[in-house]
Amino acid sequence: MTYDVITHEYDVVVVGGGGAGLRAAMGMAEKGLKVACLSKVFPTRSHTVAAQGGISAALGNMGEDDWRFHMYDTVKGSDWLGDQDAIEYMCREAIPAIIELEHFGVPFSRTAEGKIYQRAFGGMTTHYGQGTAQRTCAAADRTGHAILHTLYTQALKYKAEFFIEFIALDLLMDDEGACVGVVAWNLNDGTIHVFRGHQTVLATGGYGRAYFSCTSAHTCTGDGNAMVLRAGLSLQDMEFVQFHPTGIYGAGCLITEGVRGEGGYLTNSEGERFMLRYAPSAKDLASRDVVSRSMTIEIREGRGVGPHKDHIHLHLEHLDPDIIHSRLPGIAETAKIFAGVDVTKEPIPVLPTVHYNMGGIPTNWRTEVVAPTADDPNCVVKGLMAIGEAACVSVHGANRLGSNSLLDLVVFGRAAAIRAGETVVAGAKHRKTPQASLDKALARFDAYRNANGSTSTSDIRNKMQRTMQNHAAVFRTGESLSEGCKEISKVFDMKKDVRVADRSLVFNTDLVETLELDNLLSQAVATMYSAVNREESRGAHAREDFADRDDEQWMKHTAIWVDEAGKTKIGYRPVIMKTLTDEVEVVPPKKRVY
Ligand code: FUM
Repeated sequence: MTYDVITHEYDVVVVGGGGAGLRAAMGMAEKGLKVACLSKVFPTRSHTVAAQGGISAALGNMGEDDWRFHMYDTVKGSDWLGDQDAIEYMCREAIPAIIELEHFGVPFSRTAEGKIYQRAFGGMTTHYGQGTAQRTCAAADRTGHAILHTLYTQALKYKAEFFIEFIALDLLMDDEGACVGVVAWNLNDGTIHVFRGHQTVLATGGYGRAYFSCTSAHTCTGDGNAMVLRAGLSLQDMEFVQFHPTGIYGAGCLITEGVRGEGGYLTNSEGERFMLRYAPSAKDLASRDVVSRSMTIEIREGRGVGPHKDHIHLHLEHLDPDIIHSRLPGIAETAKIFAGVDVTKEPIPVLPTVHYNMGGIPTNWRTEVVAPTADDPNCVVKGLMAIGEAACVSVHGANRLGSNSLLDLVVFGRAAAIRAGETVVAGAKHRKTPQASLDKALARFDAYRNANGSTSTSDIRNKMQRTMQNHAAVFRTGESLSEGCKEISKVFDMKKDVRVADRSLVFNTDLVETLELDNLLSQAVATMYSAVNREESRGAHAREDFADRDDEQWMKHTAIWVDEAGKTKIGYRPVIMKTLTDEVEVVPPKKRVY
């Protein structure tokens, strides 16, 4: 079928209406650029809304702090895979970025003196590992909700234009490898649209839904990452998938790390606070990879709780009910609904659950997408930026610290706006739509729309999610990953036989789910093949057959390409071990203990 295409021209096209996309869109509009923001859901339903515990910044409202301590903790948290120029930028800019949020109207919780309330989170210290920092700025346990709603109103104020329930199909790439915009499908009326932009900004979030049990919304299908792969570009560090220690057992819903920040703790079937053994200093507030591994070991060694001894208890019944009421009201409600637990009386059953993708679209600290080549590992792709969980800047390296995610959204959304302000000339003439690129995108769309195979989307998705859950878990081995590669490649091939029952163009959720599944499949392949390739343990990538970090061989980013047939190619990019200014020094690698 041929499609009538409606063409729009904007200075900047932002794909994604979550925290990163909205911060970029408002900032770019504020600079006088004409901005389109496309979102497949209503912006305030984006997954940022689910972020609970807070956003980090060394404000020092609850005790001494310094952005250099924050930088040190983030580099250590990343297990020395993070790029230190970007980490410096994020931790330094955190402070003005949060003050801006306060001025935009984010309703942060307050201290008695009226300052922004800050709580402790995992891996956050003062004096380079010596003390405990209270660095996570919170709006009770609904911080993402508060930030998302505020940024949406700010973006409206500056007249960013929203295209809601538009699903981006593919990037439009010209013959010289530059991005000139995107092609999108309007779910409401079935029309197809080309958005031409001098910059296209991917703020499309992570791909948690590649797994069976995750804290991510159903919309977290990494659409931008998959578009990048289809454009022949690489993704970076896809083997690093974060398991949040406290997903509700059986339901997967997030119970914020803020619970442990407010004094909650974990126990095994013997009632033991086992984290004292694994992380004598930080205890329950060690970094997430460490806590998730410790919980998994407890369960494996027979000390899990419940009839199947397959989960762990999280206690907050000892906390003052006023603290629960004022600072953790959301999780009290979530625990009641999803675990049937009254948190003032009984522990919450929890299990490490997929939560965040450290890997994604490689960018520099200015948010420009990078296409590493043998000659130039930092070669910039013209016209393309990526921010938020979709991007791998890389500020989180092999393991992200809790509350650095909301920060990443805001700081790099803002950085994208600054960079676009420097590089985009408002109203400049647009390049032509590259016909070959448009035709290819529409051919894929049309093929799925008419897919008439014998396997349902949900069957393939279920197989993919179980393969990822079983083979690319908290602990991995070469054997389980090699098996996982075979399995996931087979599942990838099943998409050729997919059946889409509904042929309509208007709000065809069967087709949306199939396009999303296609997106997830290429990222699942990228994750499994990157993981089998990295023969060391670093951060969230814990190989039982290579138990130690190996800086000599592996202090480098993985670059992975996945072609349309599901074939992979792997290359590398050096970790950036330099700072942007002389206000701080590089944090040299050392053993990571908490
Ligand atoms: O535990 C949490 O509240 C999650 C925060 C984060 O992932 O940054």
